[in-house]
Amino acid sequence: MREGLEAGLKSKGCTIKMLPSFVYHTPDGTERGKYLALDLGGTNFRAMLVRFKRQKYRLYHKIYTIPLEIMQGTGEELFDHLAQCVCDFLDYMGLKKVRLPAGFTFSFPCQQSGIDTGTLVSWTKGFKATDCVGEDVVSMLREAIKRRNEFDLDIVALVNDTVGTMMSCAYEDPKCEVGMIAGTGSNLCYMEELKNIEKLEQSNGILKTNEQTSEGEESEAAVKSDLKMCVNTEWGGLGDDRCLEDIITPYDAEVDIHSVNPGKQRFEKLTSGMYLGEIVRQVLLDLTRRGLLFKGHVTETLKTPGIFETKYLSQIESDRLALLQVRSILQQLGLRGTCDDSIIVKEVCGAVSRRAAQMCGAGLAAVVDKIREDRGLERLSTTVGVDGALYKLHPHFSQVLKETVGVMAPHCDVTFLPSEEGSGKGAALIAAVVRQKQEI
Ligand code: GLC
Repeated sequence: MREGLEAGLKSKGCTIKMLPSFVYHTPDGTERGKYLALDLGGTNFRAMLVRFKRQKYRLYHKIYTIPLEIMQGTGEELFDHLAQCVCDFLDYMGLKKVRLPAGFTFSFPCQQSGIDTGTLVSWTKGFKATDCVGEDVVSMLREAIKRRNEFDLDIVALVNDTVGTMMSCAYEDPKCEVGMIAGTGSNLCYMEELKNIEKLEQSNGILKTNEQTSEGEESEAAVKSDLKMCVNTEWGGLGDDRCLEDIITPYDAEVDIHSVNPGKQRFEKLTSGMYLGEIVRQVLLDLTRRGLLFKGHVTETLKTPGIFETKYLSQIESDRLALLQVRSILQQLGLRGTCDDSIIVKEVCGAVSRRAAQMCGAGLAAVVDKIREDRGLERLSTTVGVDGALYKLHPHFSQVLKETVGVMAPHCDVTFLPSEEGSGKGAALIAAVVRQKQEI
């Protein structure tokens, strides 16, 4: 992971993409006003109105599901659907006539050249709408709004969910400079010193920023040494050069082959909610075929992809649950077994989720230790903002993650702060920071 992070900072096209976010500061509490936040990252789209007032905020929202045929249809259909949802939300809030500043949380890898533009590098997490990769997703949204011709928005920021999470946690704790998602997908962002983002050297955007910020005689190098920028690592791509082959099992290989993006996001496929259930199913299938489980009966249910959702993993692993209850969850899933079978299934779930938490912990250890070394510190004390169902709802994931970071980065004191409304509040905060800068 550490090597991958360093490589990605130097050049484009690496497995860990290290995407510049053009977010230079965490919030300072002076953010004011009303903002819209739009959030696309999983099976739902959320439209939100966030209002900041004297270090407090209020949030109103509506959730819209994205039908599978739209997730996997054309880009135009997808963005038309988003515009329709925003229109409904503005109607509902009575805000259709107001042109509000908006932050767009789009939780997929985007190559940004400024805070309000970014081209989609690739889809992840099962999305595959056509004609989007290589396109500016902010322009696509603006065009869909124009086609609809019913309302207008001022989209001021494109935001990854990790960055939104970091920002929303930094609003509560100024020591927060890392944002992490352990949910459907797995990813992390952190504040990196600008001088370390070597691949930005040639970019005009950044040179302009230096000119703007340099005061008087100060040299560019001096200015750069103080400046930071949040980098969206897209660490889910670790292993896409096969460097994780020692860890990857035949079960992981099966899950990868049958995914919509074989060979891609290999680290994500070991660590995120979208895939853990499938890994468990592959193990159970193998054990059953070998006659070690379910009396060797390979049922249609067991052969059905996607039956094990993360929420079942969380339930099965809960210590509060007696074995009989595990057995009844399995029965609800159409898997009839004995109490011994339940013990085995629980073991398998535990092994898969424990490995995921340990891998994330190892990744996070690499990041915090890098920050510590870059600053020449003997000890680093830092806060990590976290979001995602795996972190928040799984009974053991957060504990194992924490323990692993403790073991693998013994010189860092890491505090975990679960984010409150990361994607909404965070995107609105970024929009607020951008807006306030423009007004100055
Ligand atoms: C996937 C996306 C990434 C996002 C993560 C968590 O890894 O590529 O952009 O942050 O999922 O939602």
